[in-house]
Amino acid sequence: MNNANTSSSIIDPHGRCIHKMRVQLTDACNFRCFYCMPAQVKFLPSKQLLSATEIIDICSELTNVGINEMRVSGGEPTLRKDFRQIIEGLDELNLLKLGLTSNAYFLDKELPFLKNTNCQHINISLDSLNKQSFAQITKTNYFDTVFQTILQTKAMGFHVKVNVVLLKGVNDAEVFDFIEFSARHKIEVRFLELMKIGPQNAKHEHLFISAREIIQKIEGSEKLTPQSVNCDSTSFNFTTSAGAHIGFIASESQPFCQFCSRLRLTATGILRACLMSEDGINLRYRNKAEYAAILHDVVSMKPNYRIDHIEQPMYQIGG
Ligand code: 5AD
Ligand code: SF4
Repeated sequence: MNNANTSSSIIDPHGRCIHKMRVQLTDACNFRCFYCMPAQVKFLPSKQLLSATEIIDICSELTNVGINEMRVSGGEPTLRKDFRQIIEGLDELNLLKLGLTSNAYFLDKELPFLKNTNCQHINISLDSLNKQSFAQITKTNYFDTVFQTILQTKAMGFHVKVNVVLLKGVNDAEVFDFIEFSARHKIEVRFLELMKIGPQNAKHEHLFISAREIIQKIEGSEKLTPQSVNCDSTSFNFTTSAGAHIGFIASESQPFCQFCSRLRLTATGILRACLMSEDGINLRYRNKAEYAAILHDVVSMKPNYRIDHIEQPMYQIGG
C-alpha cells in the first residue's frame, strides 16, 4: 500500500473534475442476469483482452495524468486467472481508493488476498433475498454462496455495498426485506434504477420502477433520514431508525451526468467517456507519450447531458 496520489486533476470542458475510472477486466461472467445479457452469449476470445501487464501499465500512466480512484469490474472480474496479478499492480499505484464490483461467486477465495491490498471497497450485486427469485434473475442457483460471501466480506472488515437493481414485479416487493437485511448486518444497500442498456431497451417500460416510487413506499412506514454525500456521488443516501443504510442510484429519473467524474477502460483497451456512449479511444499499442493528449480528447467527448439509451449490453461495457 502506498500514499495517496496527489497529481494534478483533469477538468473537462463542462467544469467537471475527472478523477475516477472503471477498469473492466473481462466481459465474461458466470451469471446470466436477464437484464444484463441474453441467455446465449458469446464472450470475447482472451487474446482480445488486455493482458495484466497492459492493464497495469495503462492504469499507471493514467494515474500520472490525474486518475486517483479506480474500481475494477467485469463481466465478473474474479474470473480472470491473473486477477491477483492485476490487483497487485493496481495496489502499487498510489490510488486514493481502489474498489471491486463482483457477483461474489468466486470472491470468498480472493478475500484473504484482497485484505492485504488497497482494494477495500467491494460492491456486490444481489437482486433478491429470495432463492427462487435470485435464480429467476441470475439464471443460477448460487444464492447461498453469494449471501454467505457478502456476510464474510463484511466480517473481514471490507467496506461492502450491496447493489440491487430494481425490477418492477420481480423484486420491488423485497425493498423492506433489504432494509431489514441492511439494519441487521450493518451493510449498505443501494437500489439502482434499471437503465436503458442493452437487453433492457425493449422491456424497459414494463420493468422500470423509479427511486421516487420506492422512497414513497418506504416512507409510508419508516422515517428516512437523508445523509450527506460527495457532490459527484451517484447515489443519494438515507438511514432508517432501525439502523439501515440505504442509497438510491436514480440514473434514469434523476441523472447525475452534470457531476460525473468518471471514465471507463474496457477490457479491450478502449478509454471511453461515458457509460451510455461507445465513443472512446483505443489505448492498446499506443505510445505513452500520447496519453495526455488522448485523455484530453476522451474527456472532451464526455456528454454533459443524459444519453437516453445504449444498445450495447452492460457486460460488454463494464458495470
Ligand atoms: N441497469 C442498472 N444496473 C445494471 N447492472 C447491470 N445492468 C444494469 C442495468 N441495465 C448492474 C449490475 C451490477 C452493477 C455493476 O450494474 O447488477 O450491480
Ligand atoms: Fe454478470 Fe453482473 Fe451481468 Fe449479472 S449483471 S450477468 S453478475 S455482469
